[in-house]
Amino acid sequence: MINKTIEKALNEQINNEIFSAYLYLSMSAHSTYLGLKGFANWFMIQYQEEMEHAMKFYDYINDRGGKVILLTVKQPEGEFDSPLDMFQKTLAHEQFITKCINDLVDLAIEQKDHATQILLQWFVTEQIEEEGNDNEIIAKLQLIGENGNGLLMLDKELSTRIYTPPTKGE
Ligand code: FEO
Repeated sequence: MINKTIEKALNEQINNEIFSAYLYLSMSAHSTYLGLKGFANWFMIQYQEEMEHAMKFYDYINDRGGKVILLTVKQPEGEFDSPLDMFQKTLAHEQFITKCINDLVDLAIEQKDHATQILLQWFVTEQIEEEGNDNEIIAKLQLIGENGNGLLMLDKELSTRIYTPPTKGE
């Protein structure tokens, strides 16, 4: 059985993950509007991955005999200055999520909840990968600057990202 303090914190994290999905869906829509199909593809996959993250917490709360409570999801931003602006905002958001995950680890340790600590280890590793991907794309966008051809080449590269659904237990 999960304790109420942990249950509440994990329900809040479901909301953070669903907001992340919503934010990247908004960025995907904005990219499509700009004619950048590769960026739209990248953010659409990011949206799908964030929904998976939310569902990991959802399934975990249920598996531990807790109660999932869905909270109000904030409206995400819908206008962005440039592709670089979208990725800088993505990185800033992921840094916020990393802090949330680290705070949850601290709480799980404080509450002596070993099972939750194990669940959270997956997220600690995932956040390293997510921030790394964002940093890499930001560096490319900074090199590209105002070069339209460079932007189209990056758009082509981002169009090759493929969504891999999680396998059971992952
Ligand atoms: Fe669910 Fe992008 O962290």
